[in-house]
Amino acid sequence: MTSYVNVPANAKAQDARRSNIIKLYGPEAFDGMRRAGALTAKCLDGLSDLIHPGVALAQINDFVVAFASQHGATPATLGYHGYPYACCTSVNHVVCHGFPNQKRLRDGDIVNVDVTLICDGWYGDASRMYGVGKPKHAAQRLMQIAYEAMMQGIRVVRPGARLGDIGHAIDSYARSQRCSVVRDFCGHGIGQVFHDTPDVLNFGTAGTGPELREGMIFTVEPMVNLGRADVKILADNWTAVTRDRSLSAQFEHSIGVTSDGYEIFTYSRSA
Ligand code: MF3
Ligand code: CO
Ligand code: CO
Repeated sequence: MTSYVNVPANAKAQDARRSNIIKLYGPEAFDGMRRAGALTAKCLDGLSDLIHPGVALAQINDFVVAFASQHGATPATLGYHGYPYACCTSVNHVVCHGFPNQKRLRDGDIVNVDVTLICDGWYGDASRMYGVGKPKHAAQRLMQIAYEAMMQGIRVVRPGARLGDIGHAIDSYARSQRCSVVRDFCGHGIGQVFHDTPDVLNFGTAGTGPELREGMIFTVEPMVNLGRADVKILADNWTAVTRDRSLSAQFEHSIGVTSDGYEIFTYSRSA
């Protein structure tokens, strides 16, 4: 059974996730998420100028580190369960959690950059795809489908809807485009912790799962493959790739449930 708890405005940083207890936040928390989300979105905006053929993934990481420190924020992934970088960079058939190492981007690559900045204790988590040079039509199309899959999931969010409605919307859209949705990873509650209850699955049955209530804060972050949904984890214990080596794309926003719908904290006009 799911239960809900109202988080008081003056609550200290929330303790680690408590299974099955969904936190409902008030206006001060929404303010905090708005600031953290805007900063993360601005960081992702800034990467557009940097990402070109020949740029090393490590330069993306350096940008995120510098951006965070210039704005008094902390990259949440650094040291998270031992993850060694300030962001994830996932190129082509890499599904997620790719290391920003010395590898250089090449013309035609597609890359997801996933950034989470902690700003005054609040976590802004978002990711986007960037085309490097001129990707092929199929790659461009996949990026568009992944974006639209995320938006289809977000658009069903309002009080009274169910968590399963989000996954259903994402998966049915991806299937309608002859793409598959990765089942091994999901969105998550977020706020003053990185990964909280509930899991926001990218597939599911409409009308099932916990009810969405005003004040919930979570991410929507589907990963969409051109080929089959199956993934494997490389020997570094982090990098997830498609088993069939088909291209994979992902977008992510952090959002809050409002009285009549949703607010996207990581929104930017330029993406
Ligand atoms: N930012 C990712 C997410 O969307 C999580 C990355 S965790 C890491 O939830 F440890 F791999 F960085
Ligand atoms: Co996330
Ligand atoms: Co993320």
